[in-house]
Amino acid sequence: MSTIDFEKFSKYSKPGPRYTSYPTALEFDDGFTYDNYLKYLENGTEKLSLYVHLPFCRSACYFCGCNVVFTSKEEKLSQYIEYLKKEIDILAQHLDTSREVIQFHFGGGTPTFYKAFELDEIVSYIKTKFPNWSSNAEISVEIDPRFFNEDQMKVFAKHGFNRISFGVQDFDPKVQQEIHRIQPFETTKAAVDLARRYGIGSINVDLIYGLPYQTFESFQSTLEQAFSLEPDRLAVFNYAHVPWMKKTMRKFDETTLPTPDVKLKIFRYTIDFFENNGYKMVGMDHFAKPEDELFAAIEKGELHRNFQGYTTKGGANLIGIGLTSIGEGSRYYAQNTKDMKVYEAAIDAGKLPFERGVELSDDDYLRKAVIMELMANFAIDIKRVENEHGIDFKTYFSDALRDLEEFVKADLVEITDEKITVSTTGTLLIRNIAMPFDAYMHQYSGNKKSFSKTV
Ligand SMILES: C[S@@+](CC[C@H](N)C(=O)[O-])C[C@H]1O[C@@H](n2cnc3c(N)ncnc32)[C@H](O)[C@@H]1O
Repeated sequence: MSTIDFEKFSKYSKPGPRYTSYPTALEFDDGFTYDNYLKYLENGTEKLSLYVHLPFCRSACYFCGCNVVFTSKEEKLSQYIEYLKKEIDILAQHLDTSREVIQFHFGGGTPTFYKAFELDEIVSYIKTKFPNWSSNAEISVEIDPRFFNEDQMKVFAKHGFNRISFGVQDFDPKVQQEIHRIQPFETTKAAVDLARRYGIGSINVDLIYGLPYQTFESFQSTLEQAFSLEPDRLAVFNYAHVPWMKKTMRKFDETTLPTPDVKLKIFRYTIDFFENNGYKMVGMDHFAKPEDELFAAIEKGELHRNFQGYTTKGGANLIGIGLTSIGEGSRYYAQNTKDMKVYEAAIDAGKLPFERGVELSDDDYLRKAVIMELMANFAIDIKRVENEHGIDFKTYFSDALRDLEEFVKADLVEITDEKITVSTTGTLLIRNIAMPFDAYMHQYSGNKKSFSKTV
């Protein structure tokens, strides 16, 4: 790694999407109507992936880019459960709930802000309405280790949860103080141990690099501590700094954020650290043990990327339930409202709290396939794309291939007649390498306040 001149790479630090969707959420608009959405729900036959958003948190983590609601009022929490149930009832009027559920995810917010009996109530309700769960469904929850107890764990175990993702971010006390999230190592360890005691087979830990006061040395220590927990998977996210969208991020003194060259050095070290310790890099920001199904999927070129990150379960119809949730079908994205009052009013009127979305044109559908393949497998099988979409790749994407030339010259990408392959160092810039395939990108090229920086 010492041979890489990271300063040279700093020029690639520019705003760019993370491509959890294509088109990105900036393209979601009113053109995709509620009736369009209902038609997709009513005609769908794919297996189901259910995402349920529990948006509440007690206090703000200043780095957080998620859609959260701060409260400690019991009645707000229980009222939300009543609305979730009604939303599920309305959904059940519009889609065939006997379709097989192959994935379920509780996201947040802090799902474990809810008490055990409340979590039980929500999952039980969903199971009565959606009765057909695959015996090997992936059932997961995001947990903040500071809010997690054994009673909640018992509920997750009872309902067959098999994956838990723990939010850690960074173990350094100075960084924790700055991001307003004091979480001693022992708290995280106790949470991981509790999950293991109840047989959770897949434990993931989330870290973030690029946070205030992080240094190359401090993050090395964070990695060592995370590794000592022996997680099955790790997510190491690039901090998405979007202070124009998230007020709490404005609390950071931007001069304390690590510079792009330090961030690249940190992430390159992270890749080497985990590869030397028996993990493999999976996609842009995940690491897994070689026996993990994600790893087998990458070997077969069958890893998929969706709103929840990376998965082996491609092709499912993702149904977003709750405030701000995003749903995804092969030809559409649909997002619920972010406003609690609007959410409740829609449900009171007997409608889904749908706000906006996008229907994919043939061009969107093709570019989505190409961009997601790059983001997941760091390569594009040109012949496969040509066969599946009936195009001549080099003609269709002549502009993109021209834009990729600078990466080819820098030995970050290799292009042959059969394949586009990204080098290991090139994976550090995978968002930049995907951007030439994005038809909407030119609209945002001069706009610094669109996406977080790629590096
Ligand atoms: C939706 S959060 C919820 C998890 C849970 N509330 C917790 O914090 O423990 C899921 C993950 O998103 C990541 N995340 C949140 N804000 C981010 C940002 N601005 N940039 C990069 N990753 C972020 C964090 O790693 C976090 O653990």
